[in-house]
Amino acid sequence: MDKFVIKGGNRLTGDIYVSGAKNAAVAIIPAVILSDEPCVLENVPKISDVSIGLKILAEMGASVNMIDDTTFRIDATNLVNSEVPYEMARKMRASYYFLGACLGKFGKAMVSMPGGCPLGDRPIDMHLKSFEVLGSKNDIINGVVNVECDHLYGGHIYFDKVSVGATMNAILASVKADGLTIIENAAREPHIVDLANFLNSMGADIMGAGTDVIKVRGVKHLRGTTYSIVPDQIEAGTYMIAAAATHGDVMIRNVIPKHLESITAKLIKIGVNVEEYDDAVRVWTTRPLVKTNVKTSPHPGFPTDMQPQIATLLTLVDGPSLVTETIWDSRFAYVEELRRMGANITIDGKVAIIEGTGKLNGAPVKACDLRAGAALIIAGLAADGITEIEDIHHIERGYQDMDGKLRGIGADIEKRYFPGESSIKTCGA
Ligand code: UD1
Repeated sequence: MDKFVIKGGNRLTGDIYVSGAKNAAVAIIPAVILSDEPCVLENVPKISDVSIGLKILAEMGASVNMIDDTTFRIDATNLVNSEVPYEMARKMRASYYFLGACLGKFGKAMVSMPGGCPLGDRPIDMHLKSFEVLGSKNDIINGVVNVECDHLYGGHIYFDKVSVGATMNAILASVKADGLTIIENAAREPHIVDLANFLNSMGADIMGAGTDVIKVRGVKHLRGTTYSIVPDQIEAGTYMIAAAATHGDVMIRNVIPKHLESITAKLIKIGVNVEEYDDAVRVWTTRPLVKTNVKTSPHPGFPTDMQPQIATLLTLVDGPSLVTETIWDSRFAYVEELRRMGANITIDGKVAIIEGTGKLNGAPVKACDLRAGAALIIAGLAADGITEIEDIHHIERGYQDMDGKLRGIGADIEKRYFPGESSIKTCGA
């Protein structure tokens, strides 16, 4: 089994470069299906979720060519298959975007119920309801989702709850539908805007992405495009917190500072210095850090995908902080792992009560999900002694070369193969 082995205590200093956004890439890759010509995608992150997305496209009949490390030419014009291979779909949560993209292109799709991080109940009812508004009939048989329509017509979609995935899927399905689709109570995350920008660069007519009302006027054809994926807001935020947790001084490059505002605001409250540049943020500390409370909410609120990382930082400051999770039911699985490292955290429903002790100790721990894994890396970097993290495949789903990038700014982290060892601990156990 591969593990990350970290010797904590090094101050992180220097420049680190952020890759393209996972959550934009995993929607834009299926969106290429909608194009009537080949597309070139740039700034594609090298992570396993992207490899799976590209493999799904190739297995469905698209030609996928790597131009360089982060650039792909994808020709999905001959693709006739609207079924996503079962084994692939269940490996990745975002395989549900193939539903919207195939429905938009072929009027039908078959995708098995998606996998991904174990964050609690992850329904797709709102995705399916939005397809229904556009004229699709949906059913789920033996874990496989079938969507099909005779014709897609624009419609009025109102989401009861803000959902990134349902908003993206509604856009994908409506972009070629007849007439106007209005999506209300839409999610506003940067990757929603990125998907809309990508589709608009192919000739789509999408207005209002980034606000809670998105209007999509269906078009008949979408042309090819060359498009660069937006920088990853969560990867950037993770390195900001790693810099703060090690009392380092790091310039995080290839970012859009506007996308980081809620993270920056919290870090400043904790006593971290953050300076914004055009496409970089510098993060450093000059004084002791202080406790604060954090509550996750949809964009532009504090992202749930940064909750484990900021909670880890708060274990390293003196005094009690409250971290409230409002999006996912099971997003505190990492807490038990942090306790192994000496953290004093109590969970009360949706709230983690963190009694910061200013210190963590290295320990063997397990990455229970993607962001939990990122949080444990931060903990290991800041801790006294050695931390061994297992199940790092979760981390590799969403962070490109995280160990290499962190070594570049002074971290003592190595990926090591431990022959004969298999995962024995269960998460949070
Ligand atoms: C996306 C992100 C994930 C992030 C999450 C919230 C991707 C690939 N993943 O996940 O990293 O943690 O946004 O910012 O972009 N819900 C329903 N019915 C639905 C859909 C969602 O009730 O049909 C609920 C969910 O249970 C959850 C909330 O809505 O409580 C938000 O989920 P959603 O925004 O859809 O998350 P994802 O798109 O799956």
